[in-house]
Parts: sequence; C-alpha cells; structure tokens
Amino acid sequence: MQNIFVTGGAGFIGCNFVRLLLAKYPDYRVIVYDKLTYAGRLENLQDVAAQYPDRYTFVQGDICDADKVNETFQRYDVDTVVNFAAESHVDRSILDPEAFLRTDVMGTYILLEAARKAGNLRYHQISTDEVYGHIHGDHKSVETDNLAPRSPYAASKASGDHFVNAYHITYGLPITISRGANNIGPFQYPEKVIPLFVTNALQDMRLPVYGDGQQMRDYQYVMDHCQGIDLVLHKGVIGESYNIGTGFEMTNLAMVEILLDELGKPRSLIQHVEDRQGHDRRYSLDVRKMLSLGWEPDYSPEEAIRATVRWYVDNRWWWEPIRSGEFQAYYDRVYSQRAVLPTAA
Ligand code: NAD
Ligand code: TYD
Repeated sequence: MQNIFVTGGAGFIGCNFVRLLLAKYPDYRVIVYDKLTYAGRLENLQDVAAQYPDRYTFVQGDICDADKVNETFQRYDVDTVVNFAAESHVDRSILDPEAFLRTDVMGTYILLEAARKAGNLRYHQISTDEVYGHIHGDHKSVETDNLAPRSPYAASKASGDHFVNAYHITYGLPITISRGANNIGPFQYPEKVIPLFVTNALQDMRLPVYGDGQQMRDYQYVMDHCQGIDLVLHKGVIGESYNIGTGFEMTNLAMVEILLDELGKPRSLIQHVEDRQGHDRRYSLDVRKMLSLGWEPDYSPEEAIRATVRWYVDNRWWWEPIRSGEFQAYYDRVYSQRAVLPTAA
C-alpha cells in the first residue's frame, strides 16, 4: 500500500482516520476525495494540510462521478480505496431517502467498478452496526448474521455491503468491511446526538431526547474505531467483515446524564420529545473477532463521552459557525414541530 484514496475524508471519522494514516505510515500518500456536502469541511483537515504538504492531497469530487473517480485513480496511481463517503444521519434519511440511495448505494457501486477496472485495487468499506437492524434480548450481532436494516440510512448501507461482498465473490476484488458502532469525538457534525446535546447544553438549550430515552447504543471513541479500521485494512482477512465497537451499550438517558455531569449542567435541560419514526431500540455488537485480531479500545463509552464533551467545550471555533449556518434550517425542520412529551414516555 502506498497511495490511499480516502473518500469522505473531510467528514468526521474520515478526517480522524487520515490523521492516523499520515502519522503512522511515513511512506503513505493520502488522497482525500470528498464532495464537501454540508458534513464535509476543509477545516477538519487544515492542520493536516499544513503538516503534510507532500503526502496529503485533497480532491473535491463526488463518488457518483465515475469519470472523476477513474481519472483521480490514474493521476495519483491509487492502489487502495477506503470508502467513508456517505450520507450518514438517520434523521436526514427519514426526510430525504433518495440522497442516501444515491451516495451510499450508487456511489459504492461506482467505486467498486472503478477499483475493479483499475486492476482489482484493495478496497475497504466503512459500514455500520445499523445494518443488523435492532437487536432483541441479549443477542449480540456477529459478522455472519443476516442484515436486517430498518431505516433508509441502514438500508442503503446494507445494500453497499452486499455490493462489496458481491464484487469479492464475483470478480475477486480484495475487499474487507468494518461495521462500526456509534462513533463520538472531535469534528462530529452537531446533528448526531452527542455533539448536538453538548452544543445545546453549552447554550442552555433543551436536550430533545427521543421517546423514553431507553434506546441502547455503544458509544465508541473515534480514534479507537480508526485504529480498528487500520488493523482490518492491513491485517484483515480478504473477503471478511469485522464489527468494531466497545461491546458495551448504555441507554441514551444514561449517556445524557454523563454528558450533563461532565458539563456541570442540570438534568432539567432534558426534554422528552416525540420519538423518531422506526427508531431502532438497541444495537449490540459482538466484537470478539476484532479482539482476536489484536485490537482493543482505549476508551470505555463513559470515557469517550467525557473526552468528547471536553473537545466541544474547548473548540467553539469549530462548531459555532456550523450551528449558525445550514444547520439552523435543519434543526427547525426536525425539531420545531416535534411534540414535547409531558413526562418520560
Ligand atoms: P460524515 O457525515 O461526518 O461525513 C461524510 C463525508 O462524506 C463528508 O465529508 C461528505 O462531504 C462526504 N460525502 C458525502 N457524500 C459524498 C459523495 N457523494 N461523494 C464524495 N463525498 C461525499 O460521516 P461520518 O460520521 O464520518 O461517517 C463516515 C462513514 O462511517 C460513513 O460511511 C458512515 O456510514 C460510517 N459510520 C459512521 C458511524 C458514526 O457513528 N458516525 C458509525 C459507523 C459507521
Ligand atoms: P444518532 O446520533 O442520530 O445515531 P444513530 O441513530 O445512528 O444511532 O442517535 C443516537 C441515539 O440518540 C439514537 O437512539 C437516537 C437518539 N437521539 C435523540 O434521542 N435525540 C436526538 O436529537 C438525536 C439526534 C438522537
């Protein structure tokens, strides 16, 4: 591996992964290919551009643009593709599913086809625990479970996974897939629950908890996830999928209490609101396959939440301009008509 094409590298997880790659592998060159949607931001990579002028390149482009993808592969002699590019937020997928179908399914197909035509390049797909659907009882999802997505976001990510596997089986494309639990940490767009709630609380705004707040999520620190992706990229078995998460879930209400405690803000900021349509109650990953590959997370979910809260407290320069831009219209659309529940539902 030498010339790594990282799609969606200007987004949250992608920009953290690019930092890891450039710091860890002095002989790698990283080509970030990103459309710069509302979620992609060049400021997420401004320190990277300054620190690695010779080994980092940014190309603005859409993964659905086959000509541009092919041309960029050739121009930079790309040998490895890591696909982070996606529409990534469930609530937006409920409002506008088509954008998800386009990027997460069609875009994945276009990258696979380009990788195949370029001579079967090494391809890694970033996927999500949401493809397994919501998990009942005390089951934990293993990589061989059937995919049972329930939101438009999860359905398009699951379709992407199916295409990636199909390209391996049919054409021998050397692929791996990683399915991550909820990531948190620096540079996460404040539509996702933790950065939304921290930045609301810092402005003494209410925290809109969907429904009863008893939904379960595994909140992992983004750098732990990136280290797992790095390991799968270099040591994963070709053709296989890997779950990456702490393996421990907590309820959304438990998460909010840790967040408010770290901020020193009162619980009275919590406001239960009308639930998300089709809300998955629980995701739960069995991560033993990653552990046996030699990976383990540095952060527990609680440590990850506290570290993330501190980053948003210290980095208002990053999120204040976002919150006053496009985000405001989005926030009104999702939250202004939402019924407030009188008590915990
Ligand atoms: P994000 O929304 O922060 O970033 C997505 C990036 O993709 C942005 O930079 C955006 O500009 C770019 N992009 C979108 N459409 C594009 C297109 N058509 N062409 C090129 N670039 C495009 O997302 P994230 O949270 O960093 O997620 C990255 C990946 O990880 C996604 O594939 C997501 O499904 C997956 N994932 C996310 C989480 C999570 O908790 N955030 C968990 C598991 C898996
Ligand atoms: P989110 O960060 O959107 O991730 P995902 O739905 O992909 O897991 O949401 C995490 C959890 O927080 C999920 O159970 C939905 C819930 N949530 C709220 O209660 N209120 C909110 O305003 C948001 C955005 C999410």
